[in-house]
Amino acid sequence: MAPALLDRAETQRRLEPLLARAEGADLVVLPELCATGYAFAGREEAWAGAEEVGDSRFLEFLAGRCAAHGFDVVTGFAERHGDLLGNAAVLVGAEGPVASYRKLHLFHREKLYFEPGDLGVPVIERRGMRVAMLVCFDWAFPEVWRLAALGGADLVCHPANLVLHGYAQRAVPVHAQINGYFVVTANRVGRERQLEFTGMSLIAGPRGEILAQAPDHGDHVEVVQIDLARARDKQVTPNNDLLGDRRPECYGGLTSPVEPTR
Ligand code: ACM
Repeated sequence: MAPALLDRAETQRRLEPLLARAEGADLVVLPELCATGYAFAGREEAWAGAEEVGDSRFLEFLAGRCAAHGFDVVTGFAERHGDLLGNAAVLVGAEGPVASYRKLHLFHREKLYFEPGDLGVPVIERRGMRVAMLVCFDWAFPEVWRLAALGGADLVCHPANLVLHGYAQRAVPVHAQINGYFVVTANRVGRERQLEFTGMSLIAGPRGEILAQAPDHGDHVEVVQIDLARARDKQVTPNNDLLGDRRPECYGGLTSPVEPTR
């Protein structure tokens, strides 16, 4: 779907019928920065739209929708924390916000107004599922997808506002496959200022299979049933296990910083 830039009431009006169509689901995933839109002119606008997790009319609205429809929601959220702004994903239930993640890898102009995340990659136990959250450009960094797997995630919720055509939509099923878990990439559609978003949201399974895919425009709601046991069996052959065969003693170089190429 497409949030309305800096117009929470209009965004909520758009979300209400879409959320109603997801009734029966356990967990709903919404796009990145769903409460505010994405293409802020600068920090002042981002700050004006952002809310605190513990004091948010948008998250209160979602908690109400969770109570009405019986699901939990993961949403993208411009988060004020102290004097800082984070590009967050928040898991919300009928009781309110339950857990947060702050985007570790900021994209392009986001670096002008957001702080990079500082909460690691939490995995939350909820309704018998182990849920991790990553946000949009995190798609390009396999390290965080592996951290989610090592944390025991069955499912990665991935709110997105993707602008590079096809990049993440090709990479995400591979993250699902090589970590043996489910991924929901909820990408937005439409135009906002100079940006055009690419839609094609997807749900991928633990063999990298596409279980659902939205078109590149328009609103789309799809409910898919998943078998968590498939995400908990990491065996590839009788002699190979996706996590158990790792060679962490050989991976020390992964934690060495490198200079940008230009
Ligand atoms: C992005 O990280 N919103 C491309």
